[in-house]
Amino acid sequence: MTDPVLVTCASGKLGREVVRQLRAAGYRVRCASRNPERLEDGVRFDWTNPLSWRPAVMGAPQVFLTARPLDIAAAAILPDFIDLCREAGVQHVIFSSALGTDVQPAGPLGLVESYLRHSGLTWSILRPNFFMENFSHGWLLPDIAAHGTISLPAGSGRTSFISVRDVAAVAVAVFSEPDLRGHAYDLTGDDPMSHTAVAAALTRASQRPVNYHPIEPSQMREKGRRAGMPGGQLEYLMVMYRQVRAGKSAKTYNTVAKLLGRKPTSFEAFAEENAAAWRVSADAVRS
Ligand SMILES: NC(=O)c1ccc[n+]([C@@H]2O[C@H](COP(=O)([O-])OP(=O)(O)OC[C@H]3O[C@@H](n4cnc5c(N)ncnc54)[C@H](OP(=O)(O)O)[C@@H]3O)[C@@H](O)[C@H]2O)c1
Repeated sequence: MTDPVLVTCASGKLGREVVRQLRAAGYRVRCASRNPERLEDGVRFDWTNPLSWRPAVMGAPQVFLTARPLDIAAAAILPDFIDLCREAGVQHVIFSSALGTDVQPAGPLGLVESYLRHSGLTWSILRPNFFMENFSHGWLLPDIAAHGTISLPAGSGRTSFISVRDVAAVAVAVFSEPDLRGHAYDLTGDDPMSHTAVAAALTRASQRPVNYHPIEPSQMREKGRRAGMPGGQLEYLMVMYRQVRAGKSAKTYNTVAKLLGRKPTSFEAFAEENAAAWRVSADAVRS
């Protein structure tokens, strides 16, 4: 039996798909989560409790590393984990960062990237753009289900959304092919879309009206505060949508095609496949 790959944030949108595709490729997987009982081959793991890290890492030759979403403390936490990986004999770490991190090297994820590159470990870095699945499984779904709206301070900026399927497929390729290691991969879809176009695609696929309401950054701040979002995370989100408004999330890279030999998942195909998500009632989403 082969040693398992450790996947952090294994219950999240990206982590679940990485786990699924690693298993399909024949890997054993260890799924790190604060609630391991909910996952097959789960191991208890909490970024805020370093004592939980060692049992998860021991005996894992490769690690899929992700910070918590919008984690402004990532640069204070993940380097210690990277050191532990080296001590524990991990051979290769893939860090899934975020698109644009290379132009913000002093941001939390930029600092983690730099630490990993100089850690002495064999490393790889993935930098995905916004996930398509934010609309079908993520934080944008409740508003779509309840009101048929996407309310964001995205202006008319376009985004080259990527599916977690494509990010996970790249991760499996990089885990499997030693020649692909030691590089940073910018990952995007190939058709940048405004949120108006996204709403139209969701409407076409679900046969239910979905509209985009561009809101002011101040409205987003207020909404986040009311929802109890910590200030640091909220400011992180505001920076991300400033990038979207400025058109910086519209860049495309042909990395998926180069590595996988196929085009990235189109938004239309994603919408067709997930149409049921936008047909459900608000109550069903909350439960
Ligand atoms: N969503 C996007 O558009 C996007 C785009 C680019 C990059 N990213 C990055 O990709 C990564 C995954 O994002 P996602 O959208 O897939 O996540 P997600 O679906 O929102 O899931 C959040 C994950 O974080 C884990 N988590 C939260 N607090 C934790 C803690 N204290 N200790 C350990 N794990 C914790 C959760 O695990 P448990 O609850 O099971 O512990 C869960 O697996 C993040 O680093 C995010 O910044 C996201």
